[in-house]
Amino acid sequence: MSDTIESILQEERLFNPPTEFSERAYVRSGREYEQLYSRAASNPEKFWGELAEQELHWFKKWDRVLDWQPPFAQWFVGGQLNISHNCLDRHLHSWRRNKAAIIWEGEPGDSRVITYGELHREVCQFANALKSLGVQKGDRVAIYLPMIPEAAIAMLACARIGAPHSVVFGGFSAEALRDRLVDAEAKLVITADGGFRKDKAIALKQEVDKALEHGAPSVENVIVVQRTKADVTMTAGRDYWWHELKPQQSAHCPAEPMDSEDMLFILYTSGSTGKPKGVVHTTGGYNLYTHMTTKWIFDLKDTDVYWCTADVGWITGHSYIVYGPLSNGATTVMYEGVPRPSNPGCFWDVIEKYGVNIFYTAPTAIRAFIRMGEAIPNARDLSSLRLLGTVGEPINPEAWMWYHRVIGGGKCPIVDTWWQTETGGIMLTPLPGAIPTKPGSCTRPFPGIVADIVDLDGNPVESGQGGFLVIKQPWPSMIRDVYGDTDRFRFTYWEHIQPKEGQYLYFAGDGARRDADGYFWVMGRVDDVINVSGHRLGTMEIESALVSHPLVAEAAVVGRPDELTGEAIFAFVSLEGNTEANEDLKKELVKHVTAEIGAIARPAEIRFTDVLPKTRSGKIMRRLLRSLASGQEISGDTSTLEDRTVLDKLREG
Ligand code: WT7
Repeated sequence: MSDTIESILQEERLFNPPTEFSERAYVRSGREYEQLYSRAASNPEKFWGELAEQELHWFKKWDRVLDWQPPFAQWFVGGQLNISHNCLDRHLHSWRRNKAAIIWEGEPGDSRVITYGELHREVCQFANALKSLGVQKGDRVAIYLPMIPEAAIAMLACARIGAPHSVVFGGFSAEALRDRLVDAEAKLVITADGGFRKDKAIALKQEVDKALEHGAPSVENVIVVQRTKADVTMTAGRDYWWHELKPQQSAHCPAEPMDSEDMLFILYTSGSTGKPKGVVHTTGGYNLYTHMTTKWIFDLKDTDVYWCTADVGWITGHSYIVYGPLSNGATTVMYEGVPRPSNPGCFWDVIEKYGVNIFYTAPTAIRAFIRMGEAIPNARDLSSLRLLGTVGEPINPEAWMWYHRVIGGGKCPIVDTWWQTETGGIMLTPLPGAIPTKPGSCTRPFPGIVADIVDLDGNPVESGQGGFLVIKQPWPSMIRDVYGDTDRFRFTYWEHIQPKEGQYLYFAGDGARRDADGYFWVMGRVDDVINVSGHRLGTMEIESALVSHPLVAEAAVVGRPDELTGEAIFAFVSLEGNTEANEDLKKELVKHVTAEIGAIARPAEIRFTDVLPKTRSGKIMRRLLRSLASGQEISGDTSTLEDRTVLDKLREG
């Protein structure tokens, strides 16, 4: 981690919330925002306690709103609730019973609309199916599915019976899946015969079979959804078809009363060292925070059609496709596909077809749309849109402007939302009716979030200066632990910044600055995490994958800027003995990494080298490699380099 952060971006444009928008919004002005913010800051327990009471259903009220024993927070201690009940049952006693909960659009063009009443029935039946296979409260269940309604149904069914889920992105390979199954000691895996992605059927069950063959001994059963009708091997006594198992089940399954701090799910994410971490989220605080952020940030009303384009395999899908929207009784759109050469306008077709009002996507997608040209969205009717959002990485101001003009027709506020897997919900963001926006800034903290920018000693840096983004007070949906590794939880988030005795700062891993108006500008990761298309990848994971190839002696991976994906993976590789370095071997290594982790970890470039630049203590100097990878001159101190000639050799590449 370097200790200086420089920022060069200067952006002066300011966009006020349109009056018509503000008038109807939950939070209507800067003044209302300030009032909410200061109420939350002066008495967080009262603030969150009142909202929890008003907005959620509890089987039993809590004794204490917050128990903060840094770095361990417990929210709504003694309270009991069930998030599946809050997402389903409580909407059944009103007109919402027959309201669309999920509008699903498949990649090949098939579709399904599921009302709250139907979703409740599906979830209850599937929860009973899980029980019939012996899944009990506390057992971990892995979900490895494409973007089909069954993914949401499976999550809600797990939550209903108190079995923490671990959703694994369908793009991960068998090896990556196996690591996650083993770490979570999952008892059961829910998968599909396959899914459709970019006009091809991808195999999922096959990857599960491979993962189990390579050893995931905790897994007792596999439930398989039929999606592509691909041939799959079903192991008798272990594997069951969803469509055979579920219909036999009763549609009666009362939601299990969960303690507020019972684990709701584990979600794996990359860090700077070692294997992916299982981020643990619990029930009450997560339910409340995702509910409130969805309501106020997306200004979500009962009449809205809301669409977040993420995959449920990521936290964005958990919080803002499934739990946040459904807890609010909203209509949430789920789309299986991604823009692809055969259908570059598919997103705009979905918006037009369903009259989407609120659209939430990633900067990398916006950059891809810009490349495809504005004629494509211009040929569709996007007039239903009233609010746009982005998430995953900093958005370049010009991409923001394009999104605003071409997609939003110049009339939709944009919420640039900064948050992380660990934060559970959105932390820095405009409230669209209240906060004027600046292209490229995620603006202000959500009420109840105390964010700052500090140096390594925890001292706030001056406005305009770069520093480390930290959160100073606990918030309801914060990470509770790294599954099975509390030391890592402490070390990763609470020990990098070392403030004075008695102060605990949550370190996000991002560099940021604040401007004179108090707006936050996130600059990106300051650790060895690479952000490719808004997906977090640890350099260590990719390096381990490379080194696991028999011809690779050593590897160092860095990110280099990429116009489309934000960052791209650049790998420096030194080979065993006198292995010949050639293009075929590069291709083989790319294939190898894809097989080990998944296509999202595919290196964009591989450079063979005899040696890697290291310090005398043997640490790879990634800063130098980053400069080389992005074609920049090497600046800064190189005096700790063990062998100075290494640099010249690397430049020759
Ligand atoms: C990292 C978290 C949270 C959902 C998606 C990613 C980067 C996220 C923004 C934003 C600048 C952003 C940060 C963060 N990031 N949103 N609006 N502006 N950077 O979740 O995989 O946990 O990654 O994504 O670097 O630390 P994640």
